[in-house]
Amino acid sequence: MSGWEDSLLFRALRRKPTPRRPLWLMRQAGRYLPEYRALREKSGGFMAMLKNPEIACEITLQPVRRFGFDAAIIFSDILTIPDAMGLELYFVENEGPRFRRPLDSEVAIAKLAPPPAESLAFAAEACALARRELPKNTPLIGFCGAPWTLACYMADGGGGGFWKTRALRHSRPDLLHRILEINAAAAADLLAAQLAAGAQVAMIFDSWGGLLDGGGYEEFSLSYIRKIIESLRRRAPDAPIIVFARNCGFQLPQIAACGCDAVGVDWQIPLAAARRAVADKTAVQGNLDPAALLSSPENAAAAAKKTLADFGNAPGHIFNLGHGVDKTTPPENVAALVETVRAHSV
Ligand code: CP3
Repeated sequence: MSGWEDSLLFRALRRKPTPRRPLWLMRQAGRYLPEYRALREKSGGFMAMLKNPEIACEITLQPVRRFGFDAAIIFSDILTIPDAMGLELYFVENEGPRFRRPLDSEVAIAKLAPPPAESLAFAAEACALARRELPKNTPLIGFCGAPWTLACYMADGGGGGFWKTRALRHSRPDLLHRILEINAAAAADLLAAQLAAGAQVAMIFDSWGGLLDGGGYEEFSLSYIRKIIESLRRRAPDAPIIVFARNCGFQLPQIAACGCDAVGVDWQIPLAAARRAVADKTAVQGNLDPAALLSSPENAAAAAKKTLADFGNAPGHIFNLGHGVDKTTPPENVAALVETVRAHSV
């Protein structure tokens, strides 16, 4: 037996015992790494890099080479889907993502259509290249944004408080449902393509699920995540699925019952409480506060020990952060975290 079925990540996703805790970090590739910044410098920026499969593959491998993480995540972005739908994504330095053609009117929403078939081919190609280069026991994670989180950027035109999208949920839920329906179909197609090309695990990022009220979460987010999962189960029945939902602690029992294999949690919820909330239905991924990596290797190591202890010794924990690695993180603090998790989770 060899390969990813026996990898630490797969075993933890199936809640089987592992010799130590699997470890990878959201945003493990990115600007905190000097090798990423060097490549970005000569590649013409973030969008150019993620649309070039060779470069996207290389960036995917960088953190695995440096730290020996137990999983790779394909270098891409959740906003490639709306970009391919014609909204025209761009980034403003230090301000984050923006769309040149946001969904700012009923007409714009009526015109929204799924992305053309070939428009996201670069993502699948990058997965195929990365799969070939990665160590056999290092699974590759493909990903997409949750339909609600995508809709937030699409209807608001960029980041911020997402008030336009949140208002739409009350004023014109029919329009919001139209966006969500199209997003869910496009997200399922993208994940299926990444899995067919070489990814072994699918992850759905619902970074802004926490903006919805309790009842709204089921109607405007979770029901569409379920559609993606149902579609994937038909097309790639063996691929484990992780749902990361930020600021959604109250929703964990519902999320754990949506058909996913693992729930990713932010650092607000204690891991022991997350474990109880998912009630042995799924594995749990998370949840070290990324700010714990900003000061010193000692603080990073202490926080890592605490995270390990918070979950305890049961199977079904995938060590991760509660959100992405910040760009100001010193790589040596990440190294201290990696060493600590390796040494203390046996
Ligand atoms: O985790 C990984 O290493 C894989 C790659 C990945 C990126 N974005 C690369 C990226 C993943 C999984 C994402 C997901 C993503 N993108 C989310 C969901 C997760 C989350 O962070 O909440 C969201 C909301 C986005 C949208 C997005 N893309 C934002 C808000 C930003 C700006 C923030 C920032 O750090 O500048 C991006 C840009 C982005 N996506 C970068 C990277 C490495 C920075 C690009 C650069 O300037 O070089």
